[in-house]
Amino acid sequence: MIGRLNHVAIVVPDLAAAAATYRDTLGAAVSEPEDQPAHGVTTVFVELDNTKIELLHPFGEASPVAKFLEKNPSGGMHHVCYEVDDILAARDRLLAEGARVLGDGEPRIGAHDKPVLFLHPKDFCGTLVELEQV
Ligand code: CO
Repeated sequence: MIGRLNHVAIVVPDLAAAAATYRDTLGAAVSEPEDQPAHGVTTVFVELDNTKIELLHPFGEASPVAKFLEKNPSGGMHHVCYEVDDILAARDRLLAEGARVLGDGEPRIGAHDKPVLFLHPKDFCGTLVELEQV
């Protein structure tokens, strides 16, 4: 059911420092930071040949990654995102398997303007999983 790894998201305490690490130390192509008020994050995209790394930093008051950063002050891996062809079919299959879909279970438009859902980490090896319809 799941297809390609779309991205790995890493929450960081200092976006400029994290971007410099990926650009200068690891030699990757790194975007400029972009505020995403609708999602409560500022993002830097690291483009790799086979996937992307998204560096996330809280933006604004109620950021969905603020609590994560409090618990992990030096940053850490936040979620992995897998591509699916049909997000509603994927959701229904997962619910039938007993997996928990976060929120109200309806796909939302994610940071790439595509429908996304998040799955409970306890059902997926301790990892928050995002599904994105591509
Ligand atoms: Co994501």
